[in-house]
Amino acid sequence: MDSRSWLLLQPDPPEHDLPADLRARDRFGGRDCGWVAQMRPFVRHFSQPGQCVFDPFCGFGTTLLAAALEGRSGCGIEIDAARAELARERLRRHGVDAPIAVGSLPQTAIPRAIDLCLTNVPYFGCRWPSDEAGPDEGQLYLENDYAAYLHRLRDIFHTVRRALPEGGFCIAMVENLTIQDRMLPLAWDLAGVLRGLFVAREERLLCYQRDKQALPAGATRSNRSHEYALIFQKTRETPCIASTRAELRAMAEAGFAFEVFGSFASWLSRDDDTAPRPPGDADLLLPDDQGRFDALLHWLHARNYELTLWGEAVLPPLPLERLRAHWYLRAQRRDRLGRLVRLDLCLDAHA
Ligand SMILES: C[S@@+](CC[C@H](N)C(=O)[O-])C[C@H]1O[C@@H](n2cnc3c(N)ncnc32)[C@H](O)[C@@H]1O
Repeated sequence: MDSRSWLLLQPDPPEHDLPADLRARDRFGGRDCGWVAQMRPFVRHFSQPGQCVFDPFCGFGTTLLAAALEGRSGCGIEIDAARAELARERLRRHGVDAPIAVGSLPQTAIPRAIDLCLTNVPYFGCRWPSDEAGPDEGQLYLENDYAAYLHRLRDIFHTVRRALPEGGFCIAMVENLTIQDRMLPLAWDLAGVLRGLFVAREERLLCYQRDKQALPAGATRSNRSHEYALIFQKTRETPCIASTRAELRAMAEAGFAFEVFGSFASWLSRDDDTAPRPPGDADLLLPDDQGRFDALLHWLHARNYELTLWGEAVLPPLPLERLRAHWYLRAQRRDRLGRLVRLDLCLDAHA
């Protein structure tokens, strides 16, 4: 993959296409099947030969076929049992052995140790022919509520994050949608979800040379002529010590009581923030007091901090019970030089 921010994709050669007989057996007619050519540059660039590529929404096994063609192993999870079987059959015809589990994260175990997550997410608002309620439970195509849909994606990618090694990449392909003439910025919302879990690395635009199709009014509309590849990495981003110190000073001057503890406490006396292994965050102990806690959250919010409990965005007022249940609240912001300040707020149980 070169350094351009966009890739102009050519359709797959017939031997990589989803075979017509398998397509015909799919409930959707294989409508949401991606291209092998779309995945191969990402497999090459973000994993090493012999490593394992995982797709949590593996559909017809396109990602796993791309991984095999690039000399990687693969594994996937697909909630639709019939589709998982089609993917297995497709891979068998290519002589590829890549396990596919039927189910969904976080409940279903990832079949083997993984090095890269590469996927096309199931889009919100797509039709899905639901038979009985049972077998389709967990099917994201059937989720009617957009906030709940994003929440479930967050839970799934949270599990992916845990399974990836330090430094591993998580790449999600997604587009913004128009549903009934309303734009739904799914790509940007998913980027927000992933930002709570990973460090954003880059975006690529995947462009397809396709004629705009005539689409029925009122449907989920997409001409699929471009799509984003959102590239995130599981890595420890080092906050800026100088910027963090300045923020702690401002917090104290605003009258908030806190105690700095853990690894950051030992750095406070230093001027140099280039020494090895700087702390990943500043841990702060707060008084166990609802009013003072909410006042601090309002102050942080006004200074443009993002406030999250285990990756989920929160706003003040926030009951202390919720903080206790999660152990810490993360407050994070960047200054105009892009420098990161990350504060983890905990309650002082002994205060
Ligand atoms: C865009 S398709 C993936 C197609 C795949 N990239 C390919 O080209 O072969 C998304 C898939 O996610 C599956 N899916 C939906 N909800 C899921 C969930 N909660 N867990 C796992 N798979 C799910 C759908 O059944 C669908 O097959």
